[in-house]
Amino acid sequence: MAALDKSCIVAVIGAGAMGAGIAQVAAQAGHQVLLYDTRPGAAAQAIEGIDRQLGRLVEKGKISAEARQATVARLQPAEAIGDLAGAGLVIEAIVEKLEVKRELFRQLEVICSADCILASNTSSLSITSLAAELTHPQRVIGLHFFNPAPLMALVEIVSGLASAPELAETLYDTVLAWDKKPVRTRSTPGFIVNRVARPFYTESLRLLQEGAADCATLDALMRDAGGFRMGAFELTDLIGHDVNYAVTCSVFDAYYSDPRFQPSLIQKELVDAGQLGRKSGYGFYSYAEGAERPQASEVESTSEVSACVVEGCLGIATPLIKRLQNSGVSVTRRDGAGVLRAGDATLALSDGRLASLRATEDGLTNLVLIDLTHDYASAERIAISCASNASERAVQDAVSLLRRAGFKVSRLTDTPGLAVLRTVAMLANEGTDALLHGVANAADIDLAMCAGVNYPRGPLAWADAIGLPNVLRTLDNLQAAYGEPRYRPSLLLRRRVAEGGTLHEA
Ligand code: NAI
Repeated sequence: MAALDKSCIVAVIGAGAMGAGIAQVAAQAGHQVLLYDTRPGAAAQAIEGIDRQLGRLVEKGKISAEARQATVARLQPAEAIGDLAGAGLVIEAIVEKLEVKRELFRQLEVICSADCILASNTSSLSITSLAAELTHPQRVIGLHFFNPAPLMALVEIVSGLASAPELAETLYDTVLAWDKKPVRTRSTPGFIVNRVARPFYTESLRLLQEGAADCATLDALMRDAGGFRMGAFELTDLIGHDVNYAVTCSVFDAYYSDPRFQPSLIQKELVDAGQLGRKSGYGFYSYAEGAERPQASEVESTSEVSACVVEGCLGIATPLIKRLQNSGVSVTRRDGAGVLRAGDATLALSDGRLASLRATEDGLTNLVLIDLTHDYASAERIAISCASNASERAVQDAVSLLRRAGFKVSRLTDTPGLAVLRTVAMLANEGTDALLHGVANAADIDLAMCAGVNYPRGPLAWADAIGLPNVLRTLDNLQAAYGEPRYRPSLLLRRRVAEGGTLHEA
């Protein structure tokens, strides 16, 4: 199926943040674009805004002055909705209300030609439901851009129950031709990104609520250990708690109150207080003038450990050995159950059990658990948690070893799955369930999370790298620790472990 020809007129309805961005993308790709908004003057204003944006790109040398001129010449405000009759693709980005969007589609069905594609940029409404009352629901599809549309690469192509399959193919190729990254998904609550990303927020919120660490420490761990661009608290402060909380609530409701998506009382309280984040000057952090950003906590050590023993295989943490050696630590290897001994301490990668429980169950004295990192060879920070009966000396020894390897060390209370491991396990679990339910294929789920929310690695590929049995064990242990179905592993994860395969081969 070929991309829409450049001669195809694109109509964008709604000249707000998203509509203006989408109009810019289509015009830059070479289409004539009609921009329509019921607010008088809004379309013309948006085009002026796009011109200014392009002007900045010219100043930075990213596009030529001619390209700016040609793009703006392709953008035209439409006076009335009837002016959109000649469009081959209409993308609506109006207010997020089902009835208003349905009424718009009813009008468009009469105005536009039979072969015109009717697309919605909705991020939360069902495409199936938007199309349901139309005479030709097969020509309705979701085209979900991310904000800001000119910068964000991802576009989710969302098929409703009635959407014609060739529509998704045409738009897939069109989005590629527009220099964006398309993924195909079915119309299910949250599509890919807004569903799979939920645990990124909810796990950090839960850790905060349980006093595992403070916001600054948890954010630093997500960034410096997890490799994410931002931690959950700084990110939700940026997004706005009203918006982020509303998305979580809408996904939670849409999945019939599945505890996996349960919203956080801490975030609700911020919304109730009007502390919406940056835009209101206060959220998890203060944005008042002169306000100081709290520092992440970091533990120091008075010990000086210069040798360690690696017993057995450290699995995904194996690059740690090289890192220790490169830091001048003498490393001895012997058989064992995948632990690292340093001074009085026994270090092990978390498997989702409480440190105190694991120490007892596995008979490990002075147990210090380490968290997952995005890359043990280069991560700047690592979280630890300690069994309650670990001696202070052992904790000092463990911290000394990790600091010697160049890590900043943040200590959490004894928390199952620490911070990065439990978050990644839950992201992977959600992605796996989306895969099981046929929402999208594995490659598209991973691409969506990397291109849509800048994750350092797709959650499914990450789970494959950690080892699916380890991810399954972590989730089983989290479920046992909390006694909640929130942490129940996806059937597909369990099946792939039984089959001995990966998620990308599923
Ligand atoms: P916005 O509030 O900035 O803009 C909406 C525009 O639509 C306004 O200019 C309004 O005058 C116009 N409008 C409202 N009803 C209309 C109608 N019946 N006919 C023509 N124009 C009408 O909203 P925003 O943020 O641009 O969102 C638009 C859509 O994009 C929503 O469906 C939203 O869920 C979706 N979306 C928003 C994202 C975001 O981060 N803001 C991200 C992805 C999707």
